[in-house]
Amino acid sequence: MPTPQTPTVALTPEQIAEFHERGFLSIPNISPPEEVELLRGIFDRLFAQKAGRAEGAQFDMVTHDDDDDAPQALPAIINPVNFAPELRETIFRTNAAAIARQLLGPNASASFEQAILKPPRYGAATPWHQDEATRVDANFDYEQLSIWMPLQEATLANGCMQYIAGTNKGDVLPHRSPKSDPKIHAIECAGGFDPADATPCPLPPGGATMHHGRTLHYAGPNNSDTPRRAYILAFEIPPKPSTRQRNFYWNHEKQTAGLERKRQWRKRGGILVEFGRKLRGGMWRHPDRVVFEARRAIRALLNRQT
Ligand code: NI
Repeated sequence: MPTPQTPTVALTPEQIAEFHERGFLSIPNISPPEEVELLRGIFDRLFAQKAGRAEGAQFDMVTHDDDDDAPQALPAIINPVNFAPELRETIFRTNAAAIARQLLGPNASASFEQAILKPPRYGAATPWHQDEATRVDANFDYEQLSIWMPLQEATLANGCMQYIAGTNKGDVLPHRSPKSDPKIHAIECAGGFDPADATPCPLPPGGATMHHGRTLHYAGPNNSDTPRRAYILAFEIPPKPSTRQRNFYWNHEKQTAGLERKRQWRKRGGILVEFGRKLRGGMWRHPDRVVFEARRAIRALLNRQT
């Protein structure tokens, strides 16, 4: 894969205004077909191996996920780049970073990434949620962006993204665990919106939708005969301690098998591996990030969630 240095896409002023008004935006092309084909191969390998499972980075979002051999309805891998370094050098990443600077400003930096698979005929819906509601420490001001790229066509039949326009301008709504079961990784928005207002965003392979951290979104089940793979790159302005008090209690009650695998891995020395990855990722080039990461590290040392 060539090393992509310069972005090949740029949002127009109209697209930037649409993003800020509605909270989301679709573009038809963020990564070329040959790169998307390579990514499909990498994703299929990572999911077949359940890469990162032993360290809690691979899990099923909608089941108890306590049996390594059970079928997964909504498998995800956090930071797949840790298990496939070739993901570091993609045109998708270059373009997404350029778009993030256009939407969040020059201080935007990469925060995390995620690979999601909806298996054919079996892949579950992603519950309605706001990404900011997944943050464990609610007492920061977050300004975050997710850029979501399907590695094949994304349609209503296989679980394309759907958004509620304008929710980016509101606050974080109360969330809960699906079926009130804290052993399930996913969270769902507990109400305060009408799913009938959703705007579906079908996309060609290598297209992208992007959404603000407050924008309510959902993706339906995969009723098609082919896997639905999506690659998400998340960006944010380094979070600043907030003056207001919030509590995202729905995250603190979680007791998932994946979190337990992560705790055990950290105890076995994984915490040093995590630190090394953060250094390599260049997070410390952003001084504002240090306060946030230090608080997160202290929480991890106290053996709590991050
Ligand atoms: Ni999300």
